[in-house]
Amino acid sequence: MPQSQEVIEQLESLRGEFDALIAPLTDEQSIRHAQAQFMGKKGKVSLLMKQMGKLPPEDRRTVGAAFNQVKTAIVDAVAQKLDDLVQAAAAADLARTVDVSLPGREYRQGHVHLLTQVWNEAVEIFAELGFEIALGPQIETDFHSFEALAIPKDHPARDMQDTFYIGDDIVLRPHTSPVQIRTMQNQQPPVKIVAPGFVYRRDDDPTHSPMFTQIEGLLVDEVVRFSDLKGVLLHYVRRYFGKALDIRFRPSYFPFVEPGAEIDMQCSFCIDGDPSVCRVCKGTTWVEIGGCGMVDPDVFAHVKYDSEKYTGFAFGMGLERQAMLRHGVNDIKYYYEGDLRFLRQF
Ligand code: FA5
Repeated sequence: MPQSQEVIEQLESLRGEFDALIAPLTDEQSIRHAQAQFMGKKGKVSLLMKQMGKLPPEDRRTVGAAFNQVKTAIVDAVAQKLDDLVQAAAAADLARTVDVSLPGREYRQGHVHLLTQVWNEAVEIFAELGFEIALGPQIETDFHSFEALAIPKDHPARDMQDTFYIGDDIVLRPHTSPVQIRTMQNQQPPVKIVAPGFVYRRDDDPTHSPMFTQIEGLLVDEVVRFSDLKGVLLHYVRRYFGKALDIRFRPSYFPFVEPGAEIDMQCSFCIDGDPSVCRVCKGTTWVEIGGCGMVDPDVFAHVKYDSEKYTGFAFGMGLERQAMLRHGVNDIKYYYEGDLRFLRQF
């Protein structure tokens, strides 16, 4: 039969063991684990408790009191240790020095891509003149892209567009002119729209990209003259380039307009300098920015407009080229490469 004194001695030794165990611990989880090793169901103190029943009844009160003392001591030691941890963390927090003079972390703000800026600006200038915005699909029918624009199958003018065909009658639109047709099919005159959008051609060199952006213009009403077209385009060029640049029309052939012309503007690079060294206009002082003309009666027939009653003008310009001229960009690829060193300049 175990002697009561022996149990009391074991209890004291357990107490010492526990103190030594938790002294180096520095986190709550391991302190709780240590507590369970002594006080848990199968903990060392609990196992020793089982000896109580074997002690002489007259000793149980004393030994029981000793157990209670040790249990309380362990619980108190745990509480104290946890409190020490909280205090230490708070003290460490207070001791931390923060250098408030350190500059904050810079978050770079993005901005609208140069081409989108140009797109928005172009639309805004025409909107001020009363043009509405019209949009059309980039995957287009052959009818809207060519047929209705008086470019039948096998017409040589199709070659100029170098189109991506998706099927016999479906193409990636090679210009924004199909939006003219879609608008006129859905609306009676007067029509006054600009249609900005992406277009696709089998082109690839420093000034030609397989995907690029055009802005189309169309105005149809009872008395629309070539001089109206000239006035609108002259206003546009002067507003967009912010200079008193002139424009000129070079007779050209687009099957859907008659007469048709290329729009040239005075070279914005050398207007104030020496044209003989200008790489942009190659000394000619003029640069081409698009095509235009008076809407051909054939086109009106396709959309069932009365060509005896209505006349109209149309134009289509490349936006990349205009941004190149205004900002001195010498390769069209820069727009699409996503190189931040380029994009951040605008
Ligand atoms: C046309 O696309 C006609 N649809 C324009 C038009 C509309 C004429 C209405 C008459 C009436 P053109 O193929 O010339 O025309 O293209 C117009 C402009 O788009 C060119 O002057 C040029 O600035 C630009 N462009 C043409 N191909 C490319 C290309 N691959 N990359 C970048 N810009 C291009």
